[in-house]
Amino acid sequence: MGEEIIVWCDDNSGVCVANAYCPHLGADLGPDVGGSVRDGRLVCPFHGFEYDTGGQCVATPFGPAPKAARLRVFETREIAGLIFAWWGLGGRQPQWHLPPDELDQAGWSNHHIWISRFPGHPQETTENSVDLVHLSHVHGYDSVSRVDPLEIDGAFLRSRFDFCTTRKIAKVGRMRFDIAANALIYGLGYSFVEIRERSIGLDMRMWILATPVDDDVIELTIVSQAGPIRSPQRKIAGLAFLPVKLRAPIMNRFMATFQKRDVLQDVPIWSTKQYRSRPRLARSDGEIGQYRAYCAQFYADALTAAECEATVADQPAAN
Ligand code: FES
Ligand SMILES: [Fe+2]
Repeated sequence: MGEEIIVWCDDNSGVCVANAYCPHLGADLGPDVGGSVRDGRLVCPFHGFEYDTGGQCVATPFGPAPKAARLRVFETREIAGLIFAWWGLGGRQPQWHLPPDELDQAGWSNHHIWISRFPGHPQETTENSVDLVHLSHVHGYDSVSRVDPLEIDGAFLRSRFDFCTTRKIAKVGRMRFDIAANALIYGLGYSFVEIRERSIGLDMRMWILATPVDDDVIELTIVSQAGPIRSPQRKIAGLAFLPVKLRAPIMNRFMATFQKRDVLQDVPIWSTKQYRSRPRLARSDGEIGQYRAYCAQFYADALTAAECEATVADQPAAN
């Protein structure tokens, strides 16, 4: 978002995401410059003002903390150990919220996290979840089929689809995966995909998180987690011989390499494409028009959904 931010936490699960410059005389609070965390407080490298995770200056080395010294903090939400912060145009308050439900972590692997940066836009990367045709053309999936119509409710969008994919795996040969995907999207930056691989009996979770870095580049963070596999429904490379505890992390790493391959197939297309505000859609494109209408609400001078639906309207600059 073209802004330097600082993130830290204290020992009581307090997390702070804030603008990275000190309200005192403007020093960069980041660790590269000498900012540090001491007893859960962020200490400025310049004059030693200390901030708590609420963003308030609570101590200075020289006298009482000035009340007005407060960091500009962003509202945060923690989901499965991932920290999300709300950024609104001109400091706008959150206009929607991430899902409130806690995710059961029992038996689930740690996160596998992969981050890449490239020229792009969150709307374009999120469009992947409704652009089912590209799944076969770019990624080589087969038997791609939509399950249920798109569900749209305010800032929430759900896209469910099934597909199969065959992968060559060194020393194992070709393996076929039969996958049901349930993409739960909250705005343009947060996609959470529940994945059920039917032939092994493996559940996975994947977050696809797009953050605009500046006017051109986005950072795409892919996080995955594999669920407990008690009795693999088919033999895969000795999985059944491993203790149950090790299976999920191993499968998570294994599946993450496929996800990475898929994203790397998309990146050259995303980073060189031009945005078509009036795409010449084919019947087989399905819900792309509906998705574009959904996206319109996230722009500062959004058209009404109905207007957008009618015209597949031009998108202004992102919020
Ligand atoms: S600039 Fe941060 S304490 Fe002075
Ligand atoms: Fe893709």
